[in-house]
Amino acid sequence: MTEYQMIDSRETVYRDGTIKLHGEDGFEGMRRAGRLAASILDDIAPMIEPGVTTAAIDDRVRELMLAGGSVPATLGYRGYTHSCCISVNHVVCHGIPSEKALKDGDIVNIDVTPLLDGWHGDTSRMYFVGDVPLKARRLVDVTYECLMLGIEAAKPGARLGDIGAVIAEHAHKHRYGVVREFCGHGLGRLFHDAPEVVHAARAGTGPELRPGMFFTIEPMINGGRPWTKMLKDGWTAVTRDKSLSAQFEHSIGITEDGNEIFTLSGKGLHQPPYAV
Ligand code: MF3
Ligand code: CO
Ligand code: CO
Repeated sequence: MTEYQMIDSRETVYRDGTIKLHGEDGFEGMRRAGRLAASILDDIAPMIEPGVTTAAIDDRVRELMLAGGSVPATLGYRGYTHSCCISVNHVVCHGIPSEKALKDGDIVNIDVTPLLDGWHGDTSRMYFVGDVPLKARRLVDVTYECLMLGIEAAKPGARLGDIGAVIAEHAHKHRYGVVREFCGHGLGRLFHDAPEVVHAARAGTGPELRPGMFFTIEPMINGGRPWTKMLKDGWTAVTRDKSLSAQFEHSIGITEDGNEIFTLSGKGLHQPPYAV
């Protein structure tokens, strides 16, 4: 069954299927990486306007990561050559920055992961470009609620499936689809590690949550059906039915009495519209 492993942060850690349990030094490392990640999402908010290219956003993200003493974990990751992922409208995740400009009414996810002193802070938020139709804003609001409900369910003694259960229940109440092909993940000194955090699950299933576990919750919620399709570039995932898709992501650590969110905005820019 599930194996847990206490981690001494000075030792090499392997992607060996075990769930890592971290101590105070791990929490401290993740706090710093997470705070930097959140500050980058805060700092780019004013530039998310009609006319800006996603490549220009990517350049700014890279500058901010380097200025903060980190490197973009995605740069060179499995052949990916950009500093973040930017997913517009019906793109579910892993959108590749390009010379294409954002336009009025778009909804955009920006997903950043600075690697700071060996720790990965992985977080994403949605942004509104100009005036966004009510239907799209509702999807974004509900997706944010899904993430926060999932985080509330993450505490010692609960099971991993409890997180996906509350997320799916909330999404389905609004007749939205929960993406299955992409999941949250353990992280820390590794970018993607066990466990796989599925966003649609049965309560009471999966590994038990224990203090010291670090993982992301990053629900992708579609306005239509849950199914996705991969574009020929090998990265960009889109909704099969062309419906809009939204996503928010936080990196969290399980504590003795609940959890700590490592990637909270220091400026209160939790969900759009951001007053900047
Ligand atoms: N940040 C994404 C996640 O939430 C992973 C991006 S990997 C990339 O797990 F290579 F596509 F950038
Ligand atoms: Co992630
Ligand atoms: Co991410």
